[in-house]
Amino acid sequence: MDRTEPADGDAQPWWRSAVFYQVYPRSFADSDGDGVGDLGGIREKLGYLELLGVDALWICPVMRSPMADGGYDVADPRDIDPLFGGMAAMDALIAEAHERRIKITMDLVPNHTSDQHPWFVAARTAAPGSGERARYIFRDGRGPDGSEPPNNWPSIFGGPAWTRVTEPDGTPGQWYLHIFAPEQPDLNWENPEVVADFEQTLRFWLDRGIDGFRIDVAHGMAKPPGLPDMANVSTKMLVHDDDDPRFNNPGVHEIHRRFRKVLDEYPHAVSIGEVWVDDNVRFGEYVRPDELHLAFNFRLAETAFNAESVRTAIDHSLAAVAPVGATPTWTLSNHDIEREVTRYGGGVDGVERAKAMMMVELALPGSVFLYNGSELGLPNVDDLPEDVLQDPVWERSGHTERGRDGCRVPLPWEGDTPPFGFTAAAQSWLPEPAEWARLTVEAQLEELGSTVSLYRMAIEMRGTRPEFAGERIEWYGSPKGCLAFRRPGGLVCVLNATAAPIPLPPGELLLASATLKNGQLPPDAAAWLV
Ligand code: NOJ
Repeated sequence: MDRTEPADGDAQPWWRSAVFYQVYPRSFADSDGDGVGDLGGIREKLGYLELLGVDALWICPVMRSPMADGGYDVADPRDIDPLFGGMAAMDALIAEAHERRIKITMDLVPNHTSDQHPWFVAARTAAPGSGERARYIFRDGRGPDGSEPPNNWPSIFGGPAWTRVTEPDGTPGQWYLHIFAPEQPDLNWENPEVVADFEQTLRFWLDRGIDGFRIDVAHGMAKPPGLPDMANVSTKMLVHDDDDPRFNNPGVHEIHRRFRKVLDEYPHAVSIGEVWVDDNVRFGEYVRPDELHLAFNFRLAETAFNAESVRTAIDHSLAAVAPVGATPTWTLSNHDIEREVTRYGGGVDGVERAKAMMMVELALPGSVFLYNGSELGLPNVDDLPEDVLQDPVWERSGHTERGRDGCRVPLPWEGDTPPFGFTAAAQSWLPEPAEWARLTVEAQLEELGSTVSLYRMAIEMRGTRPEFAGERIEWYGSPKGCLAFRRPGGLVCVLNATAAPIPLPPGELLLASATLKNGQLPPDAAAWLV
């Protein structure tokens, strides 16, 4: 039986317990030898993804883009960039993935466009107050000559969130808002044209066979009336604060209700919002029955390898969605976050802890999102040469923050030397460390004790064993520095985050992230029992 399809009319939608695999397309696999990954590369590796056992892919943006922010600056939301192989490559990928029963979700970017989008190109040269400018957020500057930005908001990538344009007659003009890079002007979601265009984009891809969308900055879009100054201006990048006026404004929920109406015309499809909101109640509002299907809860990704903190993060993630009857989500990393191996201390310890945490998240009820390369135990690459760094954070911070390239280094597939089969070109767009030779997919698939083999076994068990049934968890008593919980179906998951081995509770051992020693679970390890 296909485990992603409902067995009968009452079964849950496929995404409620799915394992999603996030592909950062520039870094996954290159099929045309230009050193940059593409959709053809993903298609060539579908056999590997099938072997891994994932249910669905989330593919980061592949729409037409000048790539000022790795594709999150979209110039045409209804076309595929030639860098990734154009529309034909997307159609071929959808068809072949579906033949292999792997779903495809795309990444859509409603908060902003590229500054090369025809709408913004027109807005720049149109007059203040024109219909062209009304699709974005243009304002006059402050101060006698309008030379100060309209408010004090910083851009997430550093510097002010406003850029001043030069009017067609050569005079200094209005300012436009860009919460991210200047190449990413924010759209005006109070403009019905903006809403209608996005709805057209949703239908366009759903009609082509897409199974859903990850919605970028899903807590953005709506802006507060009057665009008031921020009380606490943080100059630190990528810091999240629930009272930040740039995000999480009440109007955002009406926007999600509009999206959901379109999604409901395609009952198989799922929407997953990127929602950086800490407060459980406010988080839950995004996944009410008429809004997003799922929202990323980043608590686990923000938690240290510490049993008490992990338990708290799990409790909060469950509590945030329970009142609205939504599905919890779990993720340890993505293309914006330092890889978990490094976060947990790096080296052998980091890998062991990351494996253990993968077993914790796969034991939980809900949808899991794995980031490409985590199944290989890849660390962050924190010593990339400065001249290869591409994240806009690097330039915008005046070279004080290196940004996110370290978690975006291309995957090592095979062979002994970079680029490890990622590309036929001499070099990949970001260089891979030579020591990744022992982490290649080829090397690890042959090893039963490898990280990828553990992922394969864990994903298969989660998808097929009846013990993973039930939407609740029950905490078990466990030694200090450890945690243990039970699913109603009978699965027990134990995490040992201490420095000493611990005895396991009674039961048959299904899987452990490390070899037991004298029947005990070693430090930095997790086990599943039934
Ligand atoms: C969140 C995305 O995950 C990140 O990569 C991007 O830079 C910003 N949104 C802006 O689109």
